[in-house]
Amino acid sequence: MIIKEKMEKALNKQINVELSAFYLYLSMAAYLAFNYRPGAAHWFTMQANEEFKHAMRLNDYLTTRGGKVVLTAIKAPKNQWKTYLAVLEDAYEEELKVSALINDLVDLAKSEHDHATEVMLQWFVTEQVEEEDSAGRNVERLKSMKNTPNEIMIFDRELGTRK
Ligand SMILES: [Fe+2]
Ligand SMILES: [Fe+2]
Repeated sequence: MIIKEKMEKALNKQINVELSAFYLYLSMAAYLAFNYRPGAAHWFTMQANEEFKHAMRLNDYLTTRGGKVVLTAIKAPKNQWKTYLAVLEDAYEEELKVSALINDLVDLAKSEHDHATEVMLQWFVTEQVEEEDSAGRNVERLKSMKNTPNEIMIFDRELGTRK
C-alpha cells in the first residue's frame, strides 16, 4: 500500500461526505420540483451531479494510490424546508462545512508528509472557493428580492439555465 492508513481512512470519510452532499442536493431538487421551482430543482440536480463527481475523484485517487475504498451508509437527508430561501441557506451551510473538512484533510496530508495527496486536494480547495461563491450568491440574490413573485420567477428561470 502506497497511501498511509490514516490518510486512507480520512479520504474514505470524505467520499461519504461528498456522497452525503450528493444526497442532500438531490433531496433539495425533489423538494423544489414538488414546490413549483423547476429552475432551482434543475440547478440542484446539476449540483448533486457535481458532488457525485467529487466522490468519484476521491474514489479513483484512493484506488490509484493502492488504498481500499470502503463505502459506508449515507444518512437520509432532510426532505422538508420551511421556505425556498431556507433551502439555499442550507446549501450554503453545507458548502462551508465541506470546505472546513477539505482544509482539515490538507492539514492531515501536510502533517503526514503525503505530498501527492496534498497536491490532489488542491483541486478541492479551489473547487470549494467556487462552490461557496455560487451557493452564497444564490442566498444573497433571493434575499434581495424580498418576496417579489416576479423577480423570484425570473431568478428561478435563470437557475434553470445552468449547464
Ligand atoms: Fe463536493
Ligand atoms: Fe459542493
